[in-house]
Amino acid sequence: MTDTTTTPASHLDLTDQERQAGLDLQQLKQLVGLVDYDEQQDPFPVTGWDALVFVVGNATQAAHYYQSAWGMELVAYTGPEHGVRDHKAFVLKSGSIRFVLKGAVSPDSPLIAHHARHGDGVVDISLEVPDVDRCIEQARRAGATVLQEPETLTDEHGSVRLAAIATYGETRHTLVQRVVDGVTYAGPYLPGYVAAESTYVKRESAPKRLFQALDHVVGNVELGRMDEWVSFYNRVMGFVNMAEFIGDDIATDYSALMSKVVANGNHRVKFPLNEPAIAARKSQIDEYLEFYSGPGAQHLALATNDILRTVDELRKEGVEFLDTPDAYYDDPELRARIGEVRVPIEELKQRRILVDRDEDGYLLQIFTRPLGDRPTVFFEIIERHGSLGFGKGNFKALFESIEREQERRGNL
Ligand SMILES: [Fe+2]
Repeated sequence: MTDTTTTPASHLDLTDQERQAGLDLQQLKQLVGLVDYDEQQDPFPVTGWDALVFVVGNATQAAHYYQSAWGMELVAYTGPEHGVRDHKAFVLKSGSIRFVLKGAVSPDSPLIAHHARHGDGVVDISLEVPDVDRCIEQARRAGATVLQEPETLTDEHGSVRLAAIATYGETRHTLVQRVVDGVTYAGPYLPGYVAAESTYVKRESAPKRLFQALDHVVGNVELGRMDEWVSFYNRVMGFVNMAEFIGDDIATDYSALMSKVVANGNHRVKFPLNEPAIAARKSQIDEYLEFYSGPGAQHLALATNDILRTVDELRKEGVEFLDTPDAYYDDPELRARIGEVRVPIEELKQRRILVDRDEDGYLLQIFTRPLGDRPTVFFEIIERHGSLGFGKGNFKALFESIEREQERRGNL
């Protein structure tokens, strides 16, 4: 079974979200490094991302921000008008990825306590699976905490079967099965949500969207527990380890971390996991753990096929990125290391976009400043050209930049 492209057991197919977004397999191989694999052999098959669910202090305003600054499209909503007494939830899309923004309405909402502890952040990295019951059976056998038993939710658009397991900190993976008894759920998100249309109108010159897919979500975990979480994803969810390993070689004087990467079989879902390493002063991971009150999702990497345009559009809307020193671009070693890329290095320098190359190709990337008030969750914009890495060569340059910001906040 070496030629997986002709094996019937092979499951490299577009998801409904990707199909609706007009993406094709070739694009996805380039955008997020999608690979073929045999789902039949997988104890916990995962199709891809279902949604990133955020708890925020003000979902009404956040929904506007993600439309106006990030070019996302409002597609669904639920709240008090639809029988949900304690919170509002807005569902936004860009390409094949959904964000769900939840904010408390009632002072008694459990979201209030969550937000008090963590601030704005990702509460649920929700994954689409072909068979929820099979996944939960495997998760339980492997010792995972089942937070929600499998249940079928139904409305006039059909049925969805879902369950949830716990991961690091107070983060969960809701597992969503969108095909129940051979019928695909036809609603805008989940039962209970209604289709929503925005009053926000895009500028005439605005591109259709600023990112097409989600590439990876990084988790920051406690000191000394990274290997435990890597093993959790191996054992419970059948995730495989990816080559990228980061240790002492990326430590700066003050910031140090260890990082390993796990991915699901088709590589749509990739989780780099960081833990702080002992350094002279407080590392950026320590700062995150302090201000998020524990482990959580650190950054979400959004895949684009035109990072120059995306970054230009985001800057126009006031989105702020981490700065990179001129020295990074002028360094002859960097120029030798990265070789030929699709745009002149001056174009990258002007926008402070980073570039990294490995044996498979190269990638362009840039990081935003924290999205909320706390120095916790942020975004990465990534454009891949063959490289399946995560920008290891840029970590040192990036850390030095983050440390300058930490110093300004008095947390170094
Ligand atoms: Fe990243």
